[in-house]
Amino acid sequence: MGKLDNRIAIVTGAAQGIGNGSAKVLAKHGATVILMDFAESVEAAAEEIRGMGYQAAAKRVDVSNLEDVQRAVDEVAAEYGRIDILFNNAGVNRRVRFEELDTKTRDFIFGVNIIGVWNMARAVYPYMLKAKYGRIINTSSVTGVKVVDEGQTTYSMTKGAVLSFTKALAYEAGPYGITVNAVLPGWVRTPKVEQVAADSRPEDPESALRDMAGFIPLKRLCDIEEIGDLVAFLASDEAKYITGTEMVIDGGSTLPETFDILHA
Ligand SMILES: NC(=O)c1ccc[n+]([C@@H]2O[C@H](COP(=O)([O-])OP(=O)(O)OC[C@H]3O[C@@H](n4cnc5c(N)ncnc54)[C@H](O)[C@@H]3O)[C@@H](O)[C@H]2O)c1
Repeated sequence: MGKLDNRIAIVTGAAQGIGNGSAKVLAKHGATVILMDFAESVEAAAEEIRGMGYQAAAKRVDVSNLEDVQRAVDEVAAEYGRIDILFNNAGVNRRVRFEELDTKTRDFIFGVNIIGVWNMARAVYPYMLKAKYGRIINTSSVTGVKVVDEGQTTYSMTKGAVLSFTKALAYEAGPYGITVNAVLPGWVRTPKVEQVAADSRPEDPESALRDMAGFIPLKRLCDIEEIGDLVAFLASDEAKYITGTEMVIDGGSTLPETFDILHA
């Protein structure tokens, strides 16, 4: 018996990174997982999960486009009869100092991280209301909510918005048996983070990742499946009294106050 047996779960941004790792974990716990992503490789990602002996399907979707989202979500509801879980995870980032930002970059980041999260939640919500059951888990971040870095103004703004949205929707959705929570990852080893390391230290990206790990109390980056473990918990009956919360999963990276420079 898996803790998500017979559940129908949608995971966005599932072609790679956190969404991909989480889709595998949800499937391992018994859910039928519909992987959504605009990347063509989402088909192979679903195929890989089926090859592991679990239930998975893929849909090509641009979450920033409401029509696209509505069509895909309606298809899932028609094919599977209901939607129990949404891991609303697709997100993008660009590291640009504020004075260099243009509206094209702003709208691109807002379009996926805010509009995309809204679109997906809005499309699944009527099905969850009808069923008087649902689990929505949104991917925020420690960035913008707990800590900040240079070049992160727009991304930070979107992740704060995701958290505010989570709380406000949780309040409305609670009476209908729907929980809404946010996960706030710290540094997770994903293709996106590997690219950040490669950009900052092209001659030796692994040494950049090792140095980042050195600042984290648990001394390593998070694995994508570890975010999946948290998402599976929030999606399960074990978390049925948890709603409107922000779950930080960062290996303690946001704990340091002075990084001990006073004792150096
Ligand atoms: N990696 C980290 O350390 C970290 C930390 C905190 C928060 N996050 C958040 O976690 C989420 C996943 O990040 P990741 O590191 O796995 O990223 P990633 O770039 O490795 O993967 C993101 C996936 O989303 C898909 N995607 C992007 N735009 C899309 C769109 N418009 N429609 C459909 N799919 C789209 C991409 O094709 C890709 O498969 C994001 O919301 C990110 O902001 C990541």
